Amino acid sequence: MKFFVDTAEIEAIAELNELGIVDGVTTNPSLILKSGRDIMEVTKEICDLVDGPVSAEVVAMEAEAMIAEGHKLAEIADNIAIKLPLTWDGLKACKVLSGEGRMINVTLCFSANQALLAAKAGATFISPFIGRLDDIHLDGMDLIQDIRTVYDNYGFETNILAASIRSVNHVQDCALIGADVVTAPPDVIKKLSTHPLTDKGLEQFMADWAKTGQKIL
Ligand code: E4P
Repeated sequence: MKFFVDTAEIEAIAELNELGIVDGVTTNPSLILKSGRDIMEVTKEICDLVDGPVSAEVVAMEAEAMIAEGHKLAEIADNIAIKLPLTWDGLKACKVLSGEGRMINVTLCFSANQALLAAKAGATFISPFIGRLDDIHLDGMDLIQDIRTVYDNYGFETNILAASIRSVNHVQDCALIGADVVTAPPDVIKKLSTHPLTDKGLEQFMADWAKTGQKIL
């Protein structure tokens, strides 16, 4: 399973990238707002830092304008994945832009039917939003499972990019189901390394080591 980082914060991406665990980055208009940066500038910096796909989202509502924005965003770097909303116009733009050989991430997916249409329109990635379904008392993980089943039934090559990840359990469940990619905020990715029994065990080892009076270096 690949890890994308869901942020437009350069320092956070750089820190995770040092460990070699960043396979790509996703941004959206809200994350650009949070970064306080110009979309073109910050996206270019991210693309220079990370080799994998970097999703940059269009903000037009009509297909023609989405295509024009997609072309402009794609000029930033070769590793741009144009992010389009899962609307009828977004699907039209997906068909055209994917036909030009561009990477497309279709976002704001909340049903397996939507994911089916995106795959048929040539999406490289489909982004089902887990956390936002959980927020309205549905089980976001059911959607990941349903899309996995539909895509496997028909051999669709669109990658399931599980999004709106809020916890380490979301990441583990996505890995168990077989999502192709998880995009998570930096703090969730860092938390994957933690376990209370690791902390407890280390504390015990350090206490016992101190009693030996020995040194390694
Ligand atoms: C994914 O591409 C989105 O940027 C993101 O995962 C949305 O997450 P949120 O629901 O926590 O805003």
